[in-house]
Amino acid sequence: MGERVATITIDEKSFNFPVMTPTYGNEVIDIRKLGGQAGVFTYDPGFLSTASCRSAITYIDGEKGELLYRGYPIEQLAEQCSFLEVAYLLKYGELPNAEQKRSFEYRISRHTMLHDQINRFFFGFRRDAHPMAVLVGVVGALAAFYHDVMDFSDQEHRDLSFIRLIAKMPTIVAMAYKYSVGQPFMYPRNDLDYTSNFLYMMFGTPCERYEPNPVLVRAMDVIFTLHADHEQNASTSTVRLAGSSGANPFACISAGIACLWGPAHGGANEACLRMLEEIGDVSRVGEYIKRAKDKSDPFKLMGFGHRVYKNYDPRAKLMRQICHEVLAELGLENDRLFKLALTLERIALEDEYFIEKKLYPNVDFYSGIVQRAIGIPTSMFTCIFALARSVGWFVQWEEMITDPEYKIGRPRQLYVGPPRRDVVPLAERG
Ligand code: SDX
Repeated sequence: MGERVATITIDEKSFNFPVMTPTYGNEVIDIRKLGGQAGVFTYDPGFLSTASCRSAITYIDGEKGELLYRGYPIEQLAEQCSFLEVAYLLKYGELPNAEQKRSFEYRISRHTMLHDQINRFFFGFRRDAHPMAVLVGVVGALAAFYHDVMDFSDQEHRDLSFIRLIAKMPTIVAMAYKYSVGQPFMYPRNDLDYTSNFLYMMFGTPCERYEPNPVLVRAMDVIFTLHADHEQNASTSTVRLAGSSGANPFACISAGIACLWGPAHGGANEACLRMLEEIGDVSRVGEYIKRAKDKSDPFKLMGFGHRVYKNYDPRAKLMRQICHEVLAELGLENDRLFKLALTLERIALEDEYFIEKKLYPNVDFYSGIVQRAIGIPTSMFTCIFALARSVGWFVQWEEMITDPEYKIGRPRQLYVGPPRRDVVPLAERG
């Protein structure tokens, strides 16, 4: 079949643009020459119909509720692989064999400590600072510490930066938590696996032995996998745009953390738990469903809806299963908020408004309940999201800077400001 083209006709003048065919998903019209040929721009605030790049990392089918990392369904990866295996897959494009897995885990474990001077950064923050504000600062500061691997055209420099980021995120997140509760930092233990080590650094103290519960470790590890990447979401697009200028990847990932913090994005898990606590009782669910449907009320059902998923977010289904397992392990099957969430989900999914607008629970709806049961405070939920998503941010950044076609991101605009006019001298201004 010859090259397919899309024709745009303006004032009886026609312009042809190539149609690019994907492995899966929507075809795209390559309009890079539209401005030069037709003298017009496309207008798409929020990028509802815009493909910002080509990518081979993650595929989402919003209609089917499907999520693939490098072609593998998220359900199979969550069930059969560890988070570090998934991190290796996202970075190198293939799942590791036993030797590659062992070597990767070893390298990660030898980079979990922070430069001791970074530890002092925490003490510049108030104890009640939001941990996401601390994360933005400390991750950005990594850009000031690793000048030895700054040639990002060098694959080895990129690989070592990736290892350092993935290895240090659990240490930084755990230190942000310890700092907020006034407890001493717990240094990483190389005898523990990645996620056990994270829970040790979060909940261990120098005063007694702490052995992480294997059921909670497995649940946390799956939560990391579910959050590892999600194609061109807002925070990943932030990292790509920041990185397109050639900026330091740690600084770009700090920008991604800032974007993720928002309640419309990764901050929704924290907002969702606070919403459930505000609703408080099943008897009040109807009142909040009504508010969510009221256009004059800014309230939205946190953890519901998604720009891409117009079916159930596959991660939400897996998160609900993890909820059951963790609550059962902890004897919290009758957890009030979990029961409230299940009722809220059932009522919303039966409501005409949510059906018509295809609003389903997303990854954030259950993640707060699981993390709260594990003992993670609400303010730390989005930090956990950022810890996992640092894998996706880095590999998306790397895909961009190694794409021979990449250019600095520089969108245009529809100018609606005042027409040209001359400055009136101060003395003559009314
Ligand atoms: C994440 O992009 C990603 O992939 C993100 C993420 C990732 O892994 O990176 O998946 C993680 O951010 C998940 C989303 C977490 N956010 C929330 O749960 C916050 C609540 N959800 C909404 O704010 C909203 O659904 C968004 C932001 C998630 C999506 O917004 P869109 O795509 O811009 O859709 P929209 O706001 O235009 O909604 C379409 C309609 C609107 O009504 P109309 O203007 O058509 O009348 O649905 C309504 C909205 O008012 N709507 C909701 C709603 N979400 C959308 N109404 C009530 N409650 C909601 N939660």
